[in-house]
Amino acid sequence: MQEPQKNISLKTLNTFGIDVSAELFSSFNTEEELKYLIELNKNEKKEVLILGGGSNILFTKNPEQWVWQNCIKGIEVISDSSNEVLLKVGAGENWHNFVLYCVDKNWGGIENLSLIPGCVGAGPMQNIGAYGAELKDTCHAVECIERKTGQSKTFTAQECEFGYRESIFKQKVKDQYVITYVYFKLSKNAKVNTQYGSIQQELDAMQIAEPTLKDVSNAVINIRQSKLPNPSELGNAGSFFKNPVISEAKFKSLKEKFPQIISYPAANGNVKLAAGWLIEQCGLKGFRQNNVGVHSKQALVIVNYGNSKGSEIWELSEKVIQTVKDTFDVELEREVNIY
Ligand code: EPU
Repeated sequence: MQEPQKNISLKTLNTFGIDVSAELFSSFNTEEELKYLIELNKNEKKEVLILGGGSNILFTKNPEQWVWQNCIKGIEVISDSSNEVLLKVGAGENWHNFVLYCVDKNWGGIENLSLIPGCVGAGPMQNIGAYGAELKDTCHAVECIERKTGQSKTFTAQECEFGYRESIFKQKVKDQYVITYVYFKLSKNAKVNTQYGSIQQELDAMQIAEPTLKDVSNAVINIRQSKLPNPSELGNAGSFFKNPVISEAKFKSLKEKFPQIISYPAANGNVKLAAGWLIEQCGLKGFRQNNVGVHSKQALVIVNYGNSKGSEIWELSEKVIQTVKDTFDVELEREVNIY
């Protein structure tokens, strides 16, 4: 395996396209290579930053940590019965390619998650979700290596404590493990899930009455392409903010003032608000400040129009949070990891 490299630009390794440089950079293709890095670091004793597809990260400065890029590949069938298949997938596999692979085999459960940027290993971190599906619906287990010891540990899906854009890997065991493989249980006779309004609309527009997994995947791809900027054309990291969850009482008072407010039921009797709507109501949709802006078609997304610095994106996100707070007294939380 290659020796650690010095002063490596990360511009092409983060979907915001921020030009920061890693003082020390390595990538690993196997668990053995990862364990070797862990051994090396017993002398170096450096903080480590694990990078996957770089699609949910904002660099506001050159990382001081040793950056390790996870490139573990492979899709392996672990068991195969008449109605389901259990897969072991390398954390460094591209997420969308994995979805397409499964859709082509007619294995159902992740087709609604088509075209999400990033790698498979990032999926469990924040329980990726879109159009009525979440990773937790099909994730069976997550295999990891402990960063300090190099020992393997497998978390069952239940142990992952998945929630809305949440998991144990962002909370209790933050920065303690490297995800190496994710196990998925997919269905061989899956029913398509077209509950999410815009999927049904898109399928109607496509004139498809009895959609296959491929049709649903295509519908999701069409919707995403119509609203979300393609990171290879316009730097971004998908939703920059989470949809905020508030109490029923607070929702009632907001609803009186803003009858059009968009909401969904959330766990424990709480209410989830559409942050994109809140931001749009503040007049910030399409707002541009030098080289950064709020996307004109989806206000949850912040975009880099050119060579913007991470700090400029951070400042714009502060402005958005403050304006929403002043207007609705609701605190937006960033979904993207900030370094
Ligand atoms: N809306 C607005 N203005 C906007 C954006 C949205 O009024 O600028 C309204 C829409 O009209 C709709 C509602 O807000 O009534 C929800 O919008 P949308 O369906 O676009 O979804 P979202 O809540 O804005 C979430 C996820 C997306 C995911 C979509 C579809 C989060 C933080 N974001 O966005 O995930 O693709 O639902 O399921 O939960 C991501 O995480 O990076 C991401 C793109």
